[in-house]
Amino acid sequence: MSVKSTEDFKERILRLKKEKNAVILAHYYQQGEIQDIADYVGDSLALAQIAEKIDAPVIVMCGVHFMGETVKILCPDKTVLVPDMEAGCSLADSCDASDFEKFIKEHPGHTVISYVNTTAAVKALTDVVVTSGNAREIVESFPKEHPIIFGPDKNLGNYINGITGRNMVLWDGACHVHEKFSVDKIIELKKQYPEAKILVHPECKKPLQIIADKVGSTAVLLKYAKESGYDTFIVATESGILHQMKKSCPDKTFIAAPSTDSTCGCNECNYMKLNTMKKLYECLKNESPQIHVDASLIEKARRPIERMLELSKQIKK
Ligand code: 13P
Repeated sequence: MSVKSTEDFKERILRLKKEKNAVILAHYYQQGEIQDIADYVGDSLALAQIAEKIDAPVIVMCGVHFMGETVKILCPDKTVLVPDMEAGCSLADSCDASDFEKFIKEHPGHTVISYVNTTAAVKALTDVVVTSGNAREIVESFPKEHPIIFGPDKNLGNYINGITGRNMVLWDGACHVHEKFSVDKIIELKKQYPEAKILVHPECKKPLQIIADKVGSTAVLLKYAKESGYDTFIVATESGILHQMKKSCPDKTFIAAPSTDSTCGCNECNYMKLNTMKKLYECLKNESPQIHVDASLIEKARRPIERMLELSKQIKK
């Protein structure tokens, strides 16, 4: 029998999930229907924290490849699936491990802090991993004059340098989705919605961070939308987050911030959107594609992730 509608997929995914005792994780940037069927939806930090505690033989990570790798590193004995292996990340791609190793050698004595949007090979070269949800606090856990390399996102790195008064050495990487938002178009939009608050992910460029009412990770922006008391928001991060924002605050208005690309009104990550209900169903059925990471790499990459999780326990939000 052929599987056709979202409802059919939903039913079959739930049945397979039960049969295989699987857990589905989804990032806020996934398609709405995938977020709705997931056991846990969250930002990069929350998903890593949840993955560490999962007690199930099969985990499906609905996100991009580095997120699947992070889960596998934290849960090496489990079967970790991603619906589409082609779901990459421009930021992770902007930081090749051998180039990063050279960069580290050019800056002896520096502690290496890497954003979670990196390959396992880059994490293995790192002292402590951060996400946009804990970068400030983790950087501030080091003395002010302590020399630090921060990679690969230069916009997040610049933002953290600015708010902490540091001068970390930055790797020159960026996310193609967050770099494309148009400040001019957002200012125009603000004229139409003068009461709107501008929500900005720290992977966006500095001019956008400057006009923001709130800068933060997807979870921080969602919390602000829910709790701030304002009703209208222009949202400058991947548009998948709007699903959760609208779901949590059905009476509020959320407008996807426009990008410089005139052909589209918002910004979507084409990698994140490669995952579909059909592929989620098929990956659970076939237990493929699976994430594989070399045991020696797991050992090296696990340390800086665990250090992040340990340091994050002390953060009060
Ligand atoms: P979050 O830390 O907000 O989940 O950011 C994830 C991400 O990949 C942004 O590009």
